[in-house]
Amino acid sequence: EKIVAFRQALLDWYDREKRDLPWRKDKEPYHIWVSEIMLQQTQVNTVIPYYQRFMAAFPTVADLAAAPEAKLLQLWAGLGYYSRARNMQKAAQQIMIDYQGKWPQTAKELTKLAGIGPYTAGAIASIAFNQPEPAIDGNAFRVFSRLFEIEADITKPQSRKIFYDVIKEVISPERPGDFNQAIMDLGSSYMTAKNPDTANSPVRDFNQAYLDGKEMAYPVRTKK
Ligand code: ADE
Repeated sequence: EKIVAFRQALLDWYDREKRDLPWRKDKEPYHIWVSEIMLQQTQVNTVIPYYQRFMAAFPTVADLAAAPEAKLLQLWAGLGYYSRARNMQKAAQQIMIDYQGKWPQTAKELTKLAGIGPYTAGAIASIAFNQPEPAIDGNAFRVFSRLFEIEADITKPQSRKIFYDVIKEVISPERPGDFNQAIMDLGSSYMTAKNPDTANSPVRDFNQAYLDGKEMAYPVRTKK
């Protein structure tokens, strides 16, 4: 059926072409979490050296929980939004104290940690714990709205639920983390915001907006 063929095409492409990134070497929740927080306001190429220095300085969540704040902020210098770093340390301490050093494994529990919202919780739950959880950021809004011609206005908070329900249906039950990361790679290669290269996309034949010649009408945003 169509959804199965879509997943297959997406994951086959991911297996062939996925970016070789330092946080894709294993599925340690700590590694996934740090990378996802850094990637929130910063581009992949900028994040890579920061991620590597951070892991050298704080190899485990226990190290981060116990880190001197000055050293933490020094490692963060240049990434900006220092509240991200402070929240990470708070969450590390929650994990050590409230969860005895063991990560909660569901998206719902993960959102109880400082600085972890629905996107980050979905990313960690799917990538580290293999749970079929959507990870919805701006990239996912764009990619899924085009693929399925989702008309929900992404500037409205209630639209998130509509996307969540669609992605829940489409996500690979076997490889949810790879599925989410393939969507991220698709959104930064073929299905970009400006000048998408959909004609060459590995999932072109599943891209309804492209097939209908109205790709640039998605995602839908309220006019200002
Ligand atoms: N952007 C956000 N999360 C990412 C990930 N895991 N890989 C690549 N780009 C990302």
